[in-house]
Amino acid sequence: MNTRESQKKMAAEAAVEHVQTDQVIGIGSGSTIEYFIQILKERIKLEGLKIVAVPTSYQSMLSLIKNEIPLTTLNEQPELDLAVDGADEIDSKLNLIKGGGGALTQEKIVDSAAKKFIVIADESKLVNKLGEKMPIPIEVIPLSFKTVLKKLKRYNAICTLRTAVKKMGPVITDNGNFIIDAQITDIKDPKQLELEINGIPGVVENGLFVEMADIAYIGTPQGVRKII
Ligand code: 5RP
Repeated sequence: MNTRESQKKMAAEAAVEHVQTDQVIGIGSGSTIEYFIQILKERIKLEGLKIVAVPTSYQSMLSLIKNEIPLTTLNEQPELDLAVDGADEIDSKLNLIKGGGGALTQEKIVDSAAKKFIVIADESKLVNKLGEKMPIPIEVIPLSFKTVLKKLKRYNAICTLRTAVKKMGPVITDNGNFIIDAQITDIKDPKQLELEINGIPGVVENGLFVEMADIAYIGTPQGVRKII
């Protein structure tokens, strides 16, 4: 396993320690979460933990099914004990950019329904300022694509429509929408920007997750770093 993968795994191991029997757990999306699911499966097998999980995407739903971890929905369990998710950027205040995997909308709904939200990542995800490395993913209703682009001009955003790899044309999210990746380099007030982008008609959700995370476990060459 290369360094980055082992960092993801050690972050996932630290987060799994928070899981207790009889809990309802929100499960994020992405490659780091895959480690979390594998380790959780082992704990369920070894300790007989009884948990139910709410996935944040088709990816995590299928992985939970494959690993025989019982599923539930937010409509059955609207309050979660814990949510664990990956991130694309993490600043020192635990504000995040998410949505590299296109699952930002369901992730924000599930992560915000949890009493405790833990982020897991390798150290490449740490940034001094949000927007430093990653554009902000914005999920939009397809018919609003061009009108949203026009409104994003006020932020000097460099915008691209996310294109699918094994399909012609745009990525279609799990909710049937498009994703605009908006590169905004000088984000002065992430909370304000998160609210303003969500105020544009046609925007379903954006990938700024501000003041949401409680703990981050970051895998580093020196071990796991905990940020609270
Ligand atoms: C998906 C996400 C992922 O959590 C994020 O992209 C991190 O993924 P990975 O663990 O593969 O780096 O936000 O929408």
